[in-house]
Amino acid sequence: MTDNSVSLERIPQHVGIIMDGNGRWALARGQPRLAGHRAGVENLRRTITATVEFGIKYLTIYAFSTENWGRPPEEIRGLMFLLDEVLEKELDELHRQGVQLRHIGRLEGLAPHTQEMVREAIRMTRNNTRLVLNVAFNYGGRAEIVHAIRRMIADGVRPENVTEELVNQYLYTAGQPDPDLIIRTAGEIRVSNFLLWQAAYAEYYAANVYWPDFDKNEYRRALEHFASRERRFGLTSAQVQVQG
Ligand code: IPE
Ligand code: IPE
Ligand code: MG
Repeated sequence: MTDNSVSLERIPQHVGIIMDGNGRWALARGQPRLAGHRAGVENLRRTITATVEFGIKYLTIYAFSTENWGRPPEEIRGLMFLLDEVLEKELDELHRQGVQLRHIGRLEGLAPHTQEMVREAIRMTRNNTRLVLNVAFNYGGRAEIVHAIRRMIADGVRPENVTEELVNQYLYTAGQPDPDLIIRTAGEIRVSNFLLWQAAYAEYYAANVYWPDFDKNEYRRALEHFASRERRFGLTSAQVQVQG
């Protein structure tokens, strides 16, 4: 079922979300940070459903950055546990919804059983077409570019053959459209190493609520904001209007 409350021609094809503010959400309630992450996972489930209803085809969620390894060990343990739990409990439902699960980032560094579950989830859902869900976990935009450069060199790519299209093919998101809209919650306006290459012309939207409180109305507001933007890609406004 598609939600028609947002004008459909202006729905972004690919949305990225920096899910921020779980810790502050919990702190405001006098709860441990992990309770915020748990509430964040609940909200992710609702957000995936809403994404399908809005007719968006690609969603990339930022769940754990390469810099997040610097957090206290017990918080890291909690986040790893939540990832395992989501894979165990939510996979069937995601599969039923037609979600194709992908991972972007480095699997190395995660526990072997987690790596295996992620691989299995990718295998199981690979033919689903309703929504491509990229989970950025142990992800860094700079690490991704370094990884791409290393592989190009290892493949013996000649300097004159390095083009933007080729670089695209070496990124974790190879074959996918660039994000049109990046939403960040908790009122922060910074990139924090998310999709550095791919978001070159993305529209950014800062939602003034913590991630666990980012509901479908907030989502709709972000999409309406996107629909009202004129994307010029370096051209003038007059040129863009001629092109329609
Ligand atoms: C986002 O919430 C989730 C992760 C980075 C894993 P935070 O944990 O960053 O929450 P704040 O920013 O401390 O409130
Ligand atoms: C960005 O949030 C990473 C994720 C949402 C996974 P952070 O909370 O880690 O970012 P900074 O530290 O505020 O830039
Ligand atoms: Mg944060």
